[in-house]
Amino acid sequence: MTQQPIPFLDLITPHRELEEELVAAFRDAVRSAAFIGGPQVEAFEQEFAAYCGTKYCVGVANGTDAVRFALMAAGVGRGDAVVTVSHTFIATVEAISQGRADTELVDIDERTYCMSPDRLAQYLQRCSKDPQTGRPLGRRSGKPISAVVPVHLYGQVADMDPILEIARQYDLLVIEDACQAQGAEYDSAQGGWRRAGSFGKAGAFSFYPGKNLGACGEAGAVTTDDEQVARTIKMLREHGQAQKYHHDLEGYNGRLDAIQAAFLRIKLRHLESWNGQRQAAAARYNELLSGIPGIVTPFEPANSKAIYHLYVIGTKERDALAEHLKAEGIFTGLHYPLPVHLQKCYRDWGYGRGDLPITERAAVETLSLPMFPGLTADQQQRVAASIEAFASVATGP
Ligand SMILES: Cc1ncc(COP(=O)(O)O)c(C=O)c1O
Repeated sequence: MTQQPIPFLDLITPHRELEEELVAAFRDAVRSAAFIGGPQVEAFEQEFAAYCGTKYCVGVANGTDAVRFALMAAGVGRGDAVVTVSHTFIATVEAISQGRADTELVDIDERTYCMSPDRLAQYLQRCSKDPQTGRPLGRRSGKPISAVVPVHLYGQVADMDPILEIARQYDLLVIEDACQAQGAEYDSAQGGWRRAGSFGKAGAFSFYPGKNLGACGEAGAVTTDDEQVARTIKMLREHGQAQKYHHDLEGYNGRLDAIQAAFLRIKLRHLESWNGQRQAAAARYNELLSGIPGIVTPFEPANSKAIYHLYVIGTKERDALAEHLKAEGIFTGLHYPLPVHLQKCYRDWGYGRGDLPITERAAVETLSLPMFPGLTADQQQRVAASIEAFASVATGP
């Protein structure tokens, strides 16, 4: 009997389980014709702020807008440089550029794949200083660095305590790219276990359908404790107006759709359970894969509770292993095969191969295994058995 394929991500089952509720929410929206703004958006904002442990949440159209609006509302823009990582989805960097700031890229930690605080510190130490403000000047752009954007990649919070300390020393704002980290926790020396999006000046979230909390379309949000930042984002998402047809800023059409807010409210009630299922699946993978030669399982520091948006292994045989799994009906993903600093669109920035060695290695040695709530123990055993069979051939008897 041929075995059923194992998808990389199953989006069908959770939606089937919630179908009645989602359709009822859609019907309510159609009957009330409340499509833009209104009570569903406001209620979702309150509920998601409470979930993240922040005072405010502002719904926006997608995660890219969330990063861009967070930076702009915090006052980062033309004439500034922003430090982030190259091992991320390109939207992190697009958001910085589109907010008219320059991007400076630093390398990641080899174990967590998130921004390395040591490499951030080394980078900043090597910058010359702006004679007027004393700020470090971006080594690529020559612009004063005003912010740092750590990315909570794969659902794991970056090492925020040292990053916040470095930011304090250099007077930099911290904007978290929490697009992959809805509910991920970190035990901060500043106040114990807290959720992603509550550490910096603001946190940016994507609710792209495949995220742990995903809409049924495009959506995003910014969390913050800063009332002024929240107010400015509300203006930016609405063509720069606080009062209809009075545009104090040049803004965008970046609102969170009311129907998506209604869907997100329904799904938010399941997020803890879904994250728990992903964590249990990650623990099971760790057990099944530990000891297989040449396979490095994800590293989760003791002060971190990752929510496994992705379960990413390291292997020198990445492409061959992906092909082998595919041939057995097991689908995997690459996050991300070409780092931002080597993308064609940023060629004129002057980065080259060898500039960010850990990032470049991650691009060729990481493989994302099937991971979603509802992934069964049998499916995971099949994945592990297939990897083991591949490894025994690759390493020989
Ligand atoms: C790390 C990261 N940043 C930003 C984004 C952008 O989010 P969106 O696709 O909702 O614009 C994503 C989405 O995949 C992401 O993974």
